Amino acid sequence: MAKPLIVYYSLGRKTKKVVDILQKFTNADIYEIELEKPYTKLTAYTIGLGHCKTGYEPPIKNEIDLSAYDKIFIGGPTWWFTYAPPINSFIKKYDLTDKIIYPFGTATSNFGSYFERFNKECKAKEIKKPLKILRATLNKGLEEAVKSWLNEEYNK
Ligand SMILES: Cc1cc2nc3c(=O)[nH]c(=O)nc-3n(C[C@H](O)[C@H](O)[C@H](O)COP(=O)(O)O)c2cc1C
Repeated sequence: MAKPLIVYYSLGRKTKKVVDILQKFTNADIYEIELEKPYTKLTAYTIGLGHCKTGYEPPIKNEIDLSAYDKIFIGGPTWWFTYAPPINSFIKKYDLTDKIIYPFGTATSNFGSYFERFNKECKAKEIKKPLKILRATLNKGLEEAVKSWLNEEYNK
């Protein structure tokens, strides 16, 4: 069976914790979205706010060939009640119309419209139910949460 791919952005490496567990259970390849002009923790809160509001697509620095993949996990942090701008760049830049997408995201407490907007903006063959990881789950029960979502959405 072809390997899946995990696409992610993670400024503070919290989403990366989810990626590592997903990778362990699926043996997926991993692609981290890198930006030409990376955000810092400060600019995420200042410039990032404007970018979230306007739907800006910050240019991606690294390329990936998606032709070998038909199942792609895509995830990142919640910024200002939506997905962080690098996720927007990725789903707009690449043709995903023949891919099955498994969305995931992290947040401290409130995803806002992250997944509603993702479902609207991401043009894919199919978009599965998302894996939502709040800070409390990052600290306790993360493996179990990932495993039970994979069993529902991925392993069936
Ligand atoms: C600019 C910015 C905006 C954020 N906005 C939200 C938000 O709207 N809701 C929320 O629950 N958490 C919010 N957070 C917290 C992050 O979503 C959360 O800490 C996430 O797990 C960080 O992931 P990362 O370490 O992979 O970057 C925000 C963080 C940043 C930096």
